[in-house]
Amino acid sequence: MIEKMAIIMNHESRTVPTVPTADAAADRFPSECRPGLSRIADRGLDRVEDQERLPLLNANRAYQEAGIARFHTPGHKGGRGLAEPLAQLLGSAASYDICDEVEDPALGNDWDAAVAEAEALAARLYRVDRSFFLVNGTTSGIQALMLAALRPGNEIIMPRDAHWSAVSGLIMTGAIPVYLPTPFDSDAGVPGVPDCSAYEAALAAHPRARALFMINPNYYGIAGKVAEVAELAHRHGIPLLVDEAHGAHFPFHPDLPLSALEVGADGVAHSVHKLLGALTQASLLHVRGPRLDPEKVAGALRLVTSTSPNPLLCISLDAARWQMARQGEELLERTLSLAMAVRQELSLIPGLKVWGVERLGRPGYYDLDPTKVIVDVSGLGITGYTAERMLRKLGVQIELSDFTHVLALITIGDTPATAERLVGAFRRLAADLAVERGRGEAVAGASLLASLRLPEPQVAVSPRDAFFAPSEWVEWDRAVGRVAAEWIAPYPPGIPLVSPGEVVTPAVIEAVHQFSDAGAHLRTFSPGRDPRQGLLVMASA
Ligand SMILES: Cc1ncc(COP(=O)(O)O)c(C=O)c1O
Repeated sequence: MIEKMAIIMNHESRTVPTVPTADAAADRFPSECRPGLSRIADRGLDRVEDQERLPLLNANRAYQEAGIARFHTPGHKGGRGLAEPLAQLLGSAASYDICDEVEDPALGNDWDAAVAEAEALAARLYRVDRSFFLVNGTTSGIQALMLAALRPGNEIIMPRDAHWSAVSGLIMTGAIPVYLPTPFDSDAGVPGVPDCSAYEAALAAHPRARALFMINPNYYGIAGKVAEVAELAHRHGIPLLVDEAHGAHFPFHPDLPLSALEVGADGVAHSVHKLLGALTQASLLHVRGPRLDPEKVAGALRLVTSTSPNPLLCISLDAARWQMARQGEELLERTLSLAMAVRQELSLIPGLKVWGVERLGRPGYYDLDPTKVIVDVSGLGITGYTAERMLRKLGVQIELSDFTHVLALITIGDTPATAERLVGAFRRLAADLAVERGRGEAVAGASLLASLRLPEPQVAVSPRDAFFAPSEWVEWDRAVGRVAAEWIAPYPPGIPLVSPGEVVTPAVIEAVHQFSDAGAHLRTFSPGRDPRQGLLVMASA
């Protein structure tokens, strides 16, 4: 407890990195990691020297060095059977694409033992009871957490703007969502995170809820008061499950928001591939404390995981853990400095506004990951969707756009040169648009801000019942009053405008058309259908 308080106090007094001001790119965007050892040890996560091993890479290397003739899967046999273009692309990495068959403890290449060791190293680094390597992203981690914590018919209190992986968890478990509304900074159009009081009110109305679910941070990098929500959950004897897809880097730098793991969450899923150095799809699931049975989580993971987890993904998770243990704080120090410099440079460009820490403090807006650079482009006379397309033409791809913003991620993979590219593209965009100002698009974008608030959900049946019910596809003009059997969401961020089990209202249809007209990419369950035309609904009785 004292330790936790120390972490929280350390966090409350965190300082914002200083902003470099010199003109040359190299001066504006600092390139060197700060010398010195990582402060992971100071934060009590683990001793760096304990983290030097790379068990998965070494197990597969040992198998290769033993010169075994391969008469097992995968059929490409170390790369020889791959199509030439792919073989060229993968190079020697293809020979590491082996797992179960390498088992030979005498040779030191027992894959299962290596996975167990690698997961134990991750658990020690993140200071949890168990960590699990995930090869199907945080999606499978969230599904497994829900499968371990909930039974059909149990209630779970969660924000309505959860990623659709949480909705898939509801379908798998048969749990009933009690949705919390999303706080919304309507001046800036940036969604926040429900406060503890919202969870408290929902628990008072639904005292039999079996779990609380939180997103920390949301896609925009806004973090909530996880400690308070964890404490509330524990007072009621139930677990707090946290989707920390965008926060795998949090534990490694004091200037980042607190990780849910540091403040008492029971189960936390991290997309290591999103903001750290693992390959796409590679995530971690962490479990701690008495409220979630790690064996049950392990069993649930078997339901949602291939029996042939890709070894390259697993090796990448192990290597990302190794990298963070050795250099995490230095790499993130540099990343934060770059992000602050980018924020500063962008805020000097006429027509751009950068959403920053000065907007924090209200309920729902507790903390911000500054490496997520949220830029309001409405002052340029365009929507975020248009800005994304124009930036792409200037050779820059950003992570997400909405009616008024684009969101650029600065990560440990960035350098002063990439930062300069981003800022340069924005300067060019602003200059190109200066002549066209006032063509009205921004006004339209601003007037649509209200619709960024998700339509008020009306849950008619559980997501699971809606999913398994007979269904039919109907055009939007016949959909009002019907119960959705699928979700429809702009992607990214993948937050459904309507979810299975909810009544389709005129507000839902209006939101679908507004997002679609503005240029958002909409996705549904039924990829063959055009989401602008209609939706899968429960068949009429
Ligand atoms: C908030 C949030 N949760 C969960 C996920 C799913 O993560 P993954 O892609 O690792 O399965 C995403 C993906 O974008 C997300 O943004």
